Amino acid sequence: MKSLVTGGAGFIGSHLAERLLEKGDEVIVLDNLSTGRLENVSHLQGRDDFELRLDTILDEAVVRRAVADSDRIFHLAAAVGVKFIIDNPLESIEVNVQGTENILHAANQDKKPVFLASTSEVYGKNENVPFREDDDRVLGSTTISRWSYSCTKALDEFLALAFWREKRLPVVIGRFFNTVGPRQTGRYGMVIPRFVKQALLGRDLTVHGTGEQTRAFMDVKDAVSAILALMENDDCFGQVFNVGGEKRISIKRLAETIKKKVGSDSEIKYIPYEEAYEEGFEDMIHRAPDISKINEYTGFKPENDTSAILDRVIDYFRSNEELI
Ligand SMILES: NC(=O)c1ccc[n+]([C@@H]2O[C@H](COP(=O)([O-])OP(=O)(O)OC[C@H]3O[C@@H](n4cnc5c(N)ncnc54)[C@H](O)[C@@H]3O)[C@@H](O)[C@H]2O)c1
Repeated sequence: MKSLVTGGAGFIGSHLAERLLEKGDEVIVLDNLSTGRLENVSHLQGRDDFELRLDTILDEAVVRRAVADSDRIFHLAAAVGVKFIIDNPLESIEVNVQGTENILHAANQDKKPVFLASTSEVYGKNENVPFREDDDRVLGSTTISRWSYSCTKALDEFLALAFWREKRLPVVIGRFFNTVGPRQTGRYGMVIPRFVKQALLGRDLTVHGTGEQTRAFMDVKDAVSAILALMENDDCFGQVFNVGGEKRISIKRLAETIKKKVGSDSEIKYIPYEEAYEEGFEDMIHRAPDISKINEYTGFKPENDTSAILDRVIDYFRSNEELI
């Protein structure tokens, strides 16, 4: 089996590429390194069963070739991270919409199976946690750029579902909730790597908002297991699945836990959202998935709890000091 991983030099994509190689697949990674890093896959380069193509999913010819050279596609390339989306609104929309369209059209030529990475952001500020796949989407105004990420990914889902319904393209959608682990960067607003770096440097841990907001975190190892389980069960095609951890923790508690685990003297400081992001920024108070659907279809349950995830991330930054 030859697998194409778009965004394979990124955080989740590089872990997925590793697991596919372990399973005996050949892997092609297509990535333009916009938020990914060469170092995430440099240990894989030089292998006969691994190929890195440094190019963009916005180039139709590049995508057609990469898809033609593969048996199945894991589409993870996207503009990601609240901060990145706010700072690069135009590029984000183009990559997430046009890029996905290119992938689906190319895959449809020979009906190659596609996994599409979506996000819990599609639920917007819906307050009824835990979210079920068929819950309503509650969004803010178009003048608040953060909602564009939610809309682009929702459009990707509509497109994928339309390709399934009209063309019978086998495509499965995974809505990731906060996924964490080694190689995730804190540069684009991801909270755990940001807190860990701040704690290791002895700087203030900057909590956005009151810190009362809660999130459920999932280890990237579990996310990869879920992706493979979904792609390897034909009953999952044409469907949407939540992929995430179930146990919520408040961001305040998260900061305190990281500070304690690192043994840091850092202070915890609270910064208004407007200051951290943009005027009028809105956040969701609570976010957690109902994962009974993926469990029912594949038996998937996350194996790593938040404490184990934090230990792994802290170890990662301690042994890669240049990334702090
Ligand atoms: N990490 C999370 O918590 C999370 C949550 C929800 C959804 N997701 C989704 O999972 C996927 C992977 O996210 P991640 O956390 O690994 O982020 P990431 O930024 O590490 O990975 C995205 C990758 O896509 C690449 N990319 C961006 N634009 C590209 C383009 N035009 N052409 C080719 N490659 C391009 C980037 O260089 C990067 O390597 C994304 O689709 C994201 O929306 C992630």
